[in-house]
Amino acid sequence: MSKPVEKVDRSKFKHKHLLGISDLNAEEIEIILQLADYYADNLDDRSFKPDILKGAIVLTLFFEDSTRTRTSFEVAAKRLGADVANLDMRTSSESKGESFMDTILTLNSMMRPDAIVVRHKEYGAPAFIASKVPCPVINAGDSWHEHPTQALLDALTIRRKLGKIDGLKVAICGDVSHSRVAASNIDLLTKLGASVNIVAPPALLPEKLKDGVQAFDSMEEGLKGCDVVMMLRNQYERMEAGLIKSEAEFFEQYGLTQEKLTHANKGALVMHPGPMNRGVEIADDVADDPKRSLILEQVRNGVPTRMAVLDLLLKGKF
Ligand code: CP
Repeated sequence: MSKPVEKVDRSKFKHKHLLGISDLNAEEIEIILQLADYYADNLDDRSFKPDILKGAIVLTLFFEDSTRTRTSFEVAAKRLGADVANLDMRTSSESKGESFMDTILTLNSMMRPDAIVVRHKEYGAPAFIASKVPCPVINAGDSWHEHPTQALLDALTIRRKLGKIDGLKVAICGDVSHSRVAASNIDLLTKLGASVNIVAPPALLPEKLKDGVQAFDSMEEGLKGCDVVMMLRNQYERMEAGLIKSEAEFFEQYGLTQEKLTHANKGALVMHPGPMNRGVEIADDVADDPKRSLILEQVRNGVPTRMAVLDLLLKGKF
């Protein structure tokens, strides 16, 4: 059961934008998670419509594909009473030569949005937009840099299942070096007191490790003592060709199977941010294991987490 919402001290969250977990301290992450917990408790109640953003316009700009993030931001904004404009940027006038900056200034002038949610393949694109528009900007994933709301919803999912983050050991496995999900999760989990094992082929390990993080190139070693095992997709769109020679070989060494899962703690939980490639980084019977897999819980918790973020950045303005 969540903390009563009136006891969540929103005044301590002073950020205008959510561009990355790197901008947040543990107390600010805690405020988001407490609010997200409250929204998660009420998510199945169709009559729960706080309407705190009635009159607000939330603009989502996705320059890369998305199923989960874009849709859950839309659902979250609508549950809070906002109007939502979704732009598919693959069909915008950028294809006719309009610059990125002119596209942003045009949309801002037309809609006067109260918040912009943006996903872009360029590192730092959300921060660039934040420097050009007057409203809050939320990073929905930029290159391999950050995906802050994914890390927040992952933390919410772990905490609602295990009751805590502090003291846990979490393995993050697969294509860590190209993953914004891994970057934001490593930052968030270590800020909240978890330790992190990253497990990847040497070519997919990051060059630098934060305090509280250990690197392994073997699943057997890397999963030892872990309470949670988080798998990642191979991000070919950001990867130099040839780093993964064969998906069958990758699955053999790094794909999560029930056998490999025996190296983790008894009852260890399995996560994946999606989209999943079954038979590459995860076996079907692990992804669908009703006792171990939190994958659909993660998707569900995307909505209350994004409600909490919109609430914190916009509440009081409507
Ligand atoms: N996890 C995630 O970002 O999924 P989408 O690409 O479907 O938004």
